[in-house]
Amino acid sequence: MWSNLPLFPARASTVAGSVDALYMFLVLVSTFFSVLIFVLLLYFAIKYRRRSEVERPAPNHGDLRLEFLWIVVPLGLTMIMFIWGAKVFFHMSTPPTEAIEIAAVGKQWMWKFQHPSGHREINELHVPVGRAVKLTMSSEDVIHAFYVPAFRVKMDVLPGRFTTVWFEATKTGAFHLFCAEYCGTMHAGMIGKVIVMTPADYERWLSGDAAGETMAETGAKLFEQLACHTCHSDQPDARGPSLTGIFGREVSLQDGSRVLADENYLRQSILAPNAKIVEGYRPMMPTFQGQISEAGLMQLVAYIRSLNGREGSMN
Ligand code: CUA
Repeated sequence: MWSNLPLFPARASTVAGSVDALYMFLVLVSTFFSVLIFVLLLYFAIKYRRRSEVERPAPNHGDLRLEFLWIVVPLGLTMIMFIWGAKVFFHMSTPPTEAIEIAAVGKQWMWKFQHPSGHREINELHVPVGRAVKLTMSSEDVIHAFYVPAFRVKMDVLPGRFTTVWFEATKTGAFHLFCAEYCGTMHAGMIGKVIVMTPADYERWLSGDAAGETMAETGAKLFEQLACHTCHSDQPDARGPSLTGIFGREVSLQDGSRVLADENYLRQSILAPNAKIVEGYRPMMPTFQGQISEAGLMQLVAYIRSLNGREGSMN
């Protein structure tokens, strides 16, 4: 019902309904108590107004039942908000494993996307309807935020770290994409469109113009250009650990701890190699800080991920 109000953007993703329901609950509870408080305030102000100059208030003895009530009712209501909100939050922060993975880079003042196939877009993102899409995002400069009101998703896009957001569109069409973090003069102009297509149209779009090379292929070239392969050579006497099959696995570190080799671990190992030294290796890798663009980092990660597929067993 409320989605028909002009105040609300279209509901075009699988999470939009649950976000709206939670939001409506918060609005209704807040409205109910605001009205209750103002009505009672007026009522008591009139009922207990001072009637003569010599009047003194009667002693007040309190009421345990009343105190119990105003502790338990707000506690119950806030617990409902907390548990309900946490459920929606965890659902929204856990991308399905079969999601299409797209790289997104924010910079002053535009959005850049790259599909696994290699297709690049600026300020436009084409996705198929009815498929989960996961964005791995980072920023070339300051903090931005990826915000698509119709999907009810918003996530900060940070320099120096990958963040992710996922959505599954339920309607075809073009939807507004905003930057939701003040990021400088042209912040308001950092807008774009998410274009949701039928799966057939999406396939046609993907095969339309030449994609060039895939993200993993570009990453493989970078890997050679930066001479990563001279140390990470997969040979028994290599100076760096093998990267084949490493993605998504736990890695043992020199200090005895273990760490999951995910996107952010790989990113850190490229930019600050000495932060986490793999067991059995020496801290000798130079930093690549300032030598690789954000898109390049994502391509390198895509290449390292693609090495998993070359193994006999995929995990
Ligand atoms: Cu980017 Cu605001």
